[in-house]
Amino acid sequence: MKTQALAVTLVAFASSACAHTIFQQVYVNGKAQGQLVGLRAPDYDGVRIPSFLHWFFSDSNVIQPVTDVTSNDIICNGGVNPITHTSNTIISVAAGSQISGEWHHTLAGAVPSDPADPVDPSHKGPVIAYLAKVTNATQPTVTGLKWFKIFQDGLDSSGKWGVDRMIANKGKVTFTIPSCIAPGQYLLRHELIALHGAASYPGAQFYMECAQLQITGGGTKTPATVSFPGAYHGTDPGITFNLYYPVPTSYTVPGPAVFTC
Ligand SMILES: *[C@@H]1O[C@H](CO)[C@@H](O)[C@H](O)[C@H]1NC(C)=O
Repeated sequence: MKTQALAVTLVAFASSACAHTIFQQVYVNGKAQGQLVGLRAPDYDGVRIPSFLHWFFSDSNVIQPVTDVTSNDIICNGGVNPITHTSNTIISVAAGSQISGEWHHTLAGAVPSDPADPVDPSHKGPVIAYLAKVTNATQPTVTGLKWFKIFQDGLDSSGKWGVDRMIANKGKVTFTIPSCIAPGQYLLRHELIALHGAASYPGAQFYMECAQLQITGGGTKTPATVSFPGAYHGTDPGITFNLYYPVPTSYTVPGPAVFTC
């Protein structure tokens, strides 16, 4: 028991020092839309140092995970990670289409030699997506929006996490734009929560970027919505969560239920 606790502490320490991830490209029905096209992202052009040195040093200019669920940074990042990459593009996608978000450790895109690309495998947790209807998808303002969840991938019965599947898919996460929602402009908030330090709050690491969508076709259904900040609380069982002990067999993804048509 003591040895286990020590091992858990060491694992948590080793993996907390580094390794971040950025949602940086959108695919529509498998078609790449271009690196950072239609996306709002912080910078990460930092110098990557060998992973064993992460015990002592951090990469320079790395993004910081958001850990405060009451902060406006939980919406579309920003704040501690200023949004330096913006785009005038609004990605057109028909309701009912498959959309994929691609994540990587840095803005260099896929780096097969980097063990922390697309994200350090220790950063287990759920992958989630939300939409919010907006009047203008390039508007800088992201406060006050009404969000609904369209996808979540938490822990399955074999013990694999959404993050494990994202890594297996080389950083890509694929989900469907609901076929019944109203056409118009939307922000897509795509999120990954790393739970390796989540045994107490604040500790869970929230990674997210927002993409700009023009949804065509669709229908007339109006999903129930939540606010960010507001949808998450430090006491949520999916936010204060021990990833190591006892070995989890179930997990409650934070936020509302996934909207279905
Ligand atoms: C949308 O917002 C952008 C950024 O503020 C602005 O440049 C653009 O004119 C707006 N478009 C419309 C149609 O209002």
